[in-house]
Amino acid sequence: MDGFVKMASLGEVPPGSAKEIEHDGRIVALFNVDGAISAIDGICPHQGGPLADGPVEGTCVVCPWHGWQFDVNTGKSSINARIKQQVYEVKLDGDDIWVRVS
Ligand code: FES
Repeated sequence: MDGFVKMASLGEVPPGSAKEIEHDGRIVALFNVDGAISAIDGICPHQGGPLADGPVEGTCVVCPWHGWQFDVNTGKSSINARIKQQVYEVKLDGDDIWVRVS
């Protein structure tokens, strides 16, 4: 799979959970919302909070440090339309979660 890297297995990110992955100096936050896997830049653009550690409400993750909110599918901030986290393409292959990082 061109540009894709295996980041986790489905068993590591069960529905309702998230997982932070470090790959090649990049921090990726994986989310499982009702079985749908998504991946966004895991570092909050405010002051670097770990988005994978924040609570998820619907498809919105809340940064655990100061509460900025991002849609886990679009990366868009719900409080400032000009702020958007990078979104990574995700593919599943059996139990494996692959994320396009290049
Ligand atoms: S670091 Fe995320 S809201 Fe401040």
